[in-house]
Order: sequence, then C-alpha cells, then structure tokens
Amino acid sequence: MGPAVAVFPAARESIRSNDSTFPFRQDSDFHYLTGFPEPDALAVLVNDDSQRLILFTRPRDPKQETWTGRRYGPEGAREIFGADEAFPLNELDSVMPRILSNVDRLFFAFGKEEAWDRRITGWINQVRIKGRRGAVSAPTRLVDAAVVVHEQRIRKEAAEIDRMRTAARISAEAHMLAMKACTPGMTERDVQCRLEYSCLSRGARAMAYETIVAGGSNACVLHYVENGNRLKEGDLVLIDAGCEFDNYASDISRTFPVSGRFTRAQRSLYEVVLDAQEAGIKTARQGETILSVHSSVVHVLAERLVGLGLLEGDPERHARICLQSTETPDEEAWDERLEEGEVGLHHYYMHNTSHWLGLDVHDVGRYREGGAWRVLEPGMVLTVEPGIYVAPDAEAAPDEYRGMGIRIEDAVLVTEAEPEILSESCAKSVEEVEAACRGRW
Ligand code: GLY
Ligand code: MN
Ligand code: MN
Repeated sequence: MGPAVAVFPAARESIRSNDSTFPFRQDSDFHYLTGFPEPDALAVLVNDDSQRLILFTRPRDPKQETWTGRRYGPEGAREIFGADEAFPLNELDSVMPRILSNVDRLFFAFGKEEAWDRRITGWINQVRIKGRRGAVSAPTRLVDAAVVVHEQRIRKEAAEIDRMRTAARISAEAHMLAMKACTPGMTERDVQCRLEYSCLSRGARAMAYETIVAGGSNACVLHYVENGNRLKEGDLVLIDAGCEFDNYASDISRTFPVSGRFTRAQRSLYEVVLDAQEAGIKTARQGETILSVHSSVVHVLAERLVGLGLLEGDPERHARICLQSTETPDEEAWDERLEEGEVGLHHYYMHNTSHWLGLDVHDVGRYREGGAWRVLEPGMVLTVEPGIYVAPDAEAAPDEYRGMGIRIEDAVLVTEAEPEILSESCAKSVEEVEAACRGRW
C-alpha cells in the first residue's frame, strides 16, 4: 500500500451567548492523539517512509494573547507536544495540498463538520488539478478515521487507566462529601455545588456531564438536571455525577436518604438494586458481553421485584421480556409480550445497564460486531448502572415504593482476572452509605 495521511481537527470554541463562549473542551480524538489543548488546531499524521506528526496551530500573537490567554504556537507544538513539524494555521491551504500529493489513502472523519469536509475536498481538488499535468497524484481512497481511532480508544492503556482511576477517586470523595453535607431543607443545587466544588478543588478541570441531583420522585426522571427543588426529610436523593481528569471521565451514581437513615422500604428496594449491580459487576469479565452483564442485572431485579410485590408471576418471563425491550423498543417484534395492562420490569427499569467510558462519558467504540455483542477484553471500561424507578402514579406498585428512584453506578475495568471497580472507594452498602451520611466513612 502507498503512503497514507490522517487528518484530525481540534474542537472549535463555541458561542454561549453573544460574544461569550462555553468553557473550551478539546475534541476527544484530537486529545487522544496529541494532548494539544488549544482550539482550531489540526493534526496530520503522515505514514510514508517517515512517520511524522504535523501540527497546525494558532500563531503566537502577543496582543491577542493578552486578551484570550497564552498560546503554544508552532514552536511549542514541536518542543512540548513532540510534533515533527508545525505550522501556523494561516499556512494550512498552502501546505496541505503538498502533504496530500502522491498520497494513496486519506483517513478523515468525513461528515462530522461540513466546513472541514469542504476544505479537505478543496485540497484534494488542488492536487487533482496539478495531477492533470502528470506531476502528482491525489488520494484515491478515503477511509473513516473515526472508526480507526475509536477502535483504539476502546482498549485503554495504562496511562489512560491511571487518569480514569484518578477521576473516579476524586468523584467518589465528592459523592461522600455530598452525603455528609446533605440535610433536609437544602436544595438540590446546594448539594450539586458542594459536590462540584469538591471535584474542582481536587484537580478536576470540569465535570464529565451535567450533574444530576434528584430528590424524591425527581429521581424517576432519568436525566433530571434542573436541580432546583428542596430536599425533604424522609426522601431519597439520587446523585449521578462524575468529573473529568485530563479529559478522562468518571461516572458514578449513588442514592442515599436525605436525613441519613434508610426507611425499611427504601432499604429493601436499595438492596435489590445493589445486589443486581453486584451481579452485573461480577459478570464484567473477559469473554462476557455487555448483554450478559445486562442479563445478570435483569435476572436479579426480576426475581427480587416479584419478592417485593412490584411484579407478579414468573420472574424468568419478566427477565426475558425486559431483555427484549432493551433489544428493540418495537413491541410488535418481541417473541413474548405482557398481558393487556400487566406491569413489566421494563416499566421500572427502562434503560440499559452499561456503556463504554473513557474520554467521552458515553465513550466511542462499537458495541456489536457483525450483529453479535462484542466480547469484553482486558482494558475495556464499562459502567454497570442498574436502577429502579417507581413513578408516583405507578398504580400497580405497593404504596410504600411509589415515588422512589434508585440508581447505583460504578465504572468497571475488565482485566485478565477480577473486574476492577474504578470507583471502589465510594460508600455503597447500606451501612457504608449511612456512615458516610454521618461523615464517618
Ligand atoms: N451520567 C450519564 C450516564 O450515566 O450514562
Ligand atoms: Mn453512566
Ligand atoms: Mn451516570
């Protein structure tokens, strides 16, 4: 095969309002490949006789830097980030056609940003025009670079796992601080602020996603982010929050009593979710799949919810129907369905158990290969996050459980031996959580 070139753009700054921008977050693929933290840059990997990293960066500009911050410039790109060559961005259109000359394959994530698609097509056309005079040839094969990088990103290297452990440890401490700080009468926002303060003051630059602090039945809204209500004595509060460390995400959910002590009913339902989560984590080993992790969780939930009177009938049948519901939302396609008016497990557990975790909270990488669920391998990181959500108006549910939403979530590293729970240090059993609420864990 002839020479190949891969092109990866950095993220751009995006407007929040008028001329203010959102906090800048580097594109995950670009960060993975370069570590270069500035917007607008372009990384070019050349694979010919040499193997080179070329970076295009914003130029040094003392006047502009006084306003918007220091820049590394092409020199910094070479000296600090190890680029073999570096150019200021204003040379892109003159340098890139030269780089793409006599290249056979071009790797680029076409279709993500139209402006880049057009610009790259423009460079290829310039090479083609020159090629008509016979001097050079333009790339003839375009390959989706995203798929290639995402398949690398799914297996984490030791340095990445270290960062993920750090992110998880910082977030675990913050969850326990929230348990300790929480008292009836505080708002969900108060708790959010304390948790995020804890993360940012311990070295995280940002949260990995919007923090969910959901008191009482707000927890039955899966992506509740308003965080505007007051927390009530006797309610549970569900927190789903995790920070980023060097752009690597953590993702932890815990549910605890606002007043620090579980009621009997809360404890019963909590332990169902906890036991399901433990069964899921045990299954997260090499050779298994995300489906088999989900299936372990679903079987425990089905069995135990029948025991608590939230479901009726054969737990095995409830488990099968629930697994079908996550496979396809189209009930017509299921082999087996609920009776008219019957309540199923998927009415209380409507999401999947796992997603990949890494630079993105819902990380990249294929879940299936050739139609079959992908086999777990050492180095993969997935969440295990069962939940039970009993809406306040769930008429078939015993009164004592209505309005409860419980989710327990940790990230698990698949290893050659036992699964490693990255957020292991976060209080989780009933006793640990109650102790953390008293500030003694
Ligand atoms: N926090 C997002 C999720 O759990 O998937
Ligand atoms: Mn998650
Ligand atoms: Mn989460």
